[in-house]
Amino acid sequence: MIIYGGSGGIGFATGKILASRGYDLHLVGRSEDKLAASAAELGASFTVGDVTDSDLFARVEKDAGEAVDGLVYAVGTINLRSFQRLTDVDFLNDFRVNAVGAALAVQACLAALKRSSGVASVVLFSSVAAVQGFSLHASMGMAKGAVSGLTLSLAAELAPKVRVNAIAPSLTRTPLAQSLLSSEQMAGAIAGLHALQRLGTAEDIASLTAFLLSEEADWITGQILSVDGGRSTLRTKN
Ligand SMILES: NC(=O)c1ccc[n+]([C@@H]2O[C@H](COP(=O)([O-])OP(=O)(O)OC[C@H]3O[C@@H](n4cnc5c(N)ncnc54)[C@H](OP(=O)(O)O)[C@@H]3O)[C@@H](O)[C@H]2O)c1
Repeated sequence: MIIYGGSGGIGFATGKILASRGYDLHLVGRSEDKLAASAAELGASFTVGDVTDSDLFARVEKDAGEAVDGLVYAVGTINLRSFQRLTDVDFLNDFRVNAVGAALAVQACLAALKRSSGVASVVLFSSVAAVQGFSLHASMGMAKGAVSGLTLSLAAELAPKVRVNAIAPSLTRTPLAQSLLSSEQMAGAIAGLHALQRLGTAEDIASLTAFLLSEEADWITGQILSVDGGRSTLRTKN
């Protein structure tokens, strides 16, 4: 299994579940130190690189081995700014890291995914911001909406040999969300907007990721599944 972002909050939590189930893991990320530490804990191999560098994907394909049973793309941005302050650099970077990177990661490993002895599984990450409108989220909504569209298109084009699904989390306590959660008061206020009255944890998201990668999910493809404490669908106070 390849985990882009395998040293991050959700990617590493997913790696822990998969390692405990005996899967071979290959991690990808920018910081060699973080990757080496995560890989040592999970018994994984790794490739160091930035998803905005197109050469990375061929290196991952080469390093990950002949056949690949699953690919997780748990890399992303949280770039929240008023619409007036967003520049073309913001829009293009968010699109590149969240959406184009996911497409290139799958494309580079497609032959290896098709060589899986079973049905291979890809898990991408969309966001609650792609299904519900929030202010300050114009660039994120665009980028994550593209991931949802990519998920559906790939699920159709790669069936029946490869399943493709996405998870759409709400705010989850990981390093990515750190800047939003540095004040406990703010974290509590955001948690209170969720029907389940808390923020997500990396483990909340990783358990569904691991399920989607497993044979138990062998008849699930083309789905964008919300793991969001009810944020996208429920309103408990008026
Ligand atoms: N946390 C949330 O609230 C939340 C909400 C909705 C959606 N999501 C989505 O869930 C996914 C996982 O997020 P997370 O919260 O687990 O993030 P995270 O804790 O920040 O982890 C991100 C991982 O990706 C790697 N990474 C970041 N930028 C990279 C780049 N340009 N090239 C290569 N590797 C890169 C990081 O390692 P290095 O820094 O060493 O590169 C790290 O391993 C993302 O797609 C995110 O958008 C998260």
